[in-house]
Amino acid sequence: MKVLQSLLIILLITGALSAWGAERKKSPTPLVPPEFPQSPFGFTKGDQRRGEMVYQQNGCGSCHMIEGKGGKIGPDLSRIGETRRLPEAYRQHLMSDHRPPVTLFDRDMEDLVAYLQSLKLLR
Ligand code: HEC
Repeated sequence: MKVLQSLLIILLITGALSAWGAERKKSPTPLVPPEFPQSPFGFTKGDQRRGEMVYQQNGCGSCHMIEGKGGKIGPDLSRIGETRRLPEAYRQHLMSDHRPPVTLFDRDMEDLVAYLQSLKLLR
């Protein structure tokens, strides 16, 4: 009887452990929701002129400098368009790596990304 009981307990424990393992293996929720407007080929559909307004309205310039205008807390963004080639890289940075995190509505984010991508030495 004792043997049966301990067998049962071992079975229960291994069962619980493997369920826990399966739970942990679940992939994290995707950063960019599927309905996010994205084009293939890595270009953004955003409107860079509207993106400039999004930049100004969200006070990015209080910390960031663009062509000599703005704050000095964050890095100069005058040539940020040369560093990250794909829109996903900008979104990822702004939404999950950036402190403070940048949370915007889809369209605003898309336009902001288009604007940031346009910031290059030769425009
Ligand atoms: C409170 C200050 C502050 C504000 C406001 C701010 N940033 Fe930043 N930003 C930083 C700092 C500090 C860093 C560098 C560390 C990091 O990446 O989080 C940074 C990094 C970045 C980078 C990456 C720069 C690089 O060279 O890789 C981008 C792009 C950026 N910010 C864009 C923005 C945009 C767009 C906004 C407005 C929506 C914004 N930031 C608002 C402080 C700020």
